[in-house]
Amino acid sequence: MRWTQTYIPTLRETPTEAELISHQLLLRAGYIRKLSAGVYIYLPLMQRVIEKFEKIVREEMNKAGAIEITMPVLHPAEIWQETGRYYTVGKEQMRLKDRHQHELVLGGTHEEIVTFLLKGELKSYRQLPINLYQIQVKFRDEIRPRFGLMRGREFIMKDAYSFDADEKSFDISYRKMVDAYFAIFQRAGLDTKKVESDTGAMGGRAAHEFMLIVNTEGGEETIMFCDKCDYAANIEKATFREADPPEIDDTLMNPKEVDTPNASTIEEVTAFLKVDARQLVKTLIYVVDGKPVAALIRGDRELNLTKLKNQLKAIELESASASIVEEVTGCPVGFAGPVGLKNIPIIVDPEITRLRNFIVGANKNEKHILNVNIGRDFKASAVADLINAVEGESCPNCDGRLIARKGIEVGNTFMLGTKYSQSLGAGFLDAEGNERPFIMGSYGIGITRTPQAAIEKYHDDKGIIWPKNIAPYLVEIIPLNYEKSSHKEAAEQIYAELVNNGVDCLLDDRAERAGVKFNDADLIGIPLRIIIGDRSLKEGKVELKSRKGDDVGLVDAKDILNEVRSRLERMG
Ligand SMILES: Nc1ncnc2c1ncn2[C@@H]1O[C@H](COP(=O)(O)OP(=O)(O)OP(=O)(O)O)[C@@H](O)[C@H]1O
Ligand SMILES: [Mg+2]
Ligand SMILES: [Zn+2]
Repeated sequence: MRWTQTYIPTLRETPTEAELISHQLLLRAGYIRKLSAGVYIYLPLMQRVIEKFEKIVREEMNKAGAIEITMPVLHPAEIWQETGRYYTVGKEQMRLKDRHQHELVLGGTHEEIVTFLLKGELKSYRQLPINLYQIQVKFRDEIRPRFGLMRGREFIMKDAYSFDADEKSFDISYRKMVDAYFAIFQRAGLDTKKVESDTGAMGGRAAHEFMLIVNTEGGEETIMFCDKCDYAANIEKATFREADPPEIDDTLMNPKEVDTPNASTIEEVTAFLKVDARQLVKTLIYVVDGKPVAALIRGDRELNLTKLKNQLKAIELESASASIVEEVTGCPVGFAGPVGLKNIPIIVDPEITRLRNFIVGANKNEKHILNVNIGRDFKASAVADLINAVEGESCPNCDGRLIARKGIEVGNTFMLGTKYSQSLGAGFLDAEGNERPFIMGSYGIGITRTPQAAIEKYHDDKGIIWPKNIAPYLVEIIPLNYEKSSHKEAAEQIYAELVNNGVDCLLDDRAERAGVKFNDADLIGIPLRIIIGDRSLKEGKVELKSRKGDDVGLVDAKDILNEVRSRLERMG
């Protein structure tokens, strides 16, 4: 492709609307343009990146035995009501009405539709297993569609769905997808980690996420790793053992109300009472599907909202406003406590059951109670893990320590069990002639998110540095002065030779200054560059340079094809 015949609108200024470096670069390098919040136009370079990544995904999915279909984006609302997800997905679902006032849904995922397809269609265990996939546009009304293609409201996903007759066969189907995912991301130049994850609104038994570890702001997810074994989990799900638990004296002391003037935060109370935060218990008030709930965790811990949500089987959960806290506790924010707290569920983290003589808010302004004990002074409605795992604590599976890292979720795999087949009545006859529901799995990859994640990982202060296999072109040819006939001739000759031999090339044939071309080349990030200038041409040579900056050298113009091929090979 010639630069003048495609459309690469690079920008000099960094767009102010973009926070993430990858988002800034996609805009600046002329890959995307925003239509509205979370909705983007893919320009020619992005189009090529998407096509390259899709090709890798298709090849590996096909190799794993999955079969490509295309399902509609427009769904009748009834099918989502049947599985109940119409109610649990909540505001994230894009909804509309047709001219007959019939309710429709724009699909954000396709478990319902694929199950509908196979219901009644597959009758015998002999037709199983089967895995169907598509590469399709998805719609989700994300709360914060702010990071460009990372979190769009309209985006492209590869979604696959497996159907098996029994657990043993399902395990093989699941394994195949996990292996295919590692292969896909590897080919795209991305070293991903598979981590345990929460199953969320998707339901099912267990799930894994494929994470690209980054150390930029783009890492929206926190992942906890063990430094010894292969334990790795999203913090939403991660558990731990306390490495150095506080010593407990079992003697129960008498409760005592004390004044804590101006001390409402953990820091203020511990400083004022001169105690360790581990001796304090925080009482956090949340509104869960419209009703207040108290969550109790140790003073030094962080509440894990996913765990609280799962424990309460909640759909919507938000921290209570000051007025609700006052209504529930009868005092201003900062002094809530479980003693005498009436009419609301009190969910307690297991660490609290091991504490003795701890300190809580007194439900009175500027007062706390010392020497409180669970059971004697208040009762728990439920005991459940409610806290975030912490770096440095012990691994749940071995004596290693946990390490925290930031990551971007590029794909995930869910063990769905029979949630969808059962609610939609989709099953088959087994060898004994008994009717049984399908055992299902679902498997997603962010087709538009993954390339942006790659940029978040691979860039420098000048621009994008594409992994070879998802780069829009492999080679960019830059004649320093295309107007000059010797440059033009050499450039055209090399361009023709490479293109005729199947190497994806971009020829910068603009009448621009060399500096402009170099800046743009750095920005758009093509892996290999051929520079044509007077000095080298005199000796029949051109300069070959990788975007990364390594592998620079003069090569004979007549050997260019072999040189390019061997360098691309070396790039891995
Ligand atoms: N809003 C989005 N924009 C772009 N890609 C997305 C978006 N939501 C999900 N994806 C991609 O689709 C894949 C499968 O979708 P899935 O429903 O499993 O994601 P998710 O768990 O909702 O992701 P997240 O936790 O980031 O919201 C994800 O792994 C991700 O790569
Ligand atoms: Mg999501
Ligand atoms: Zn471990």
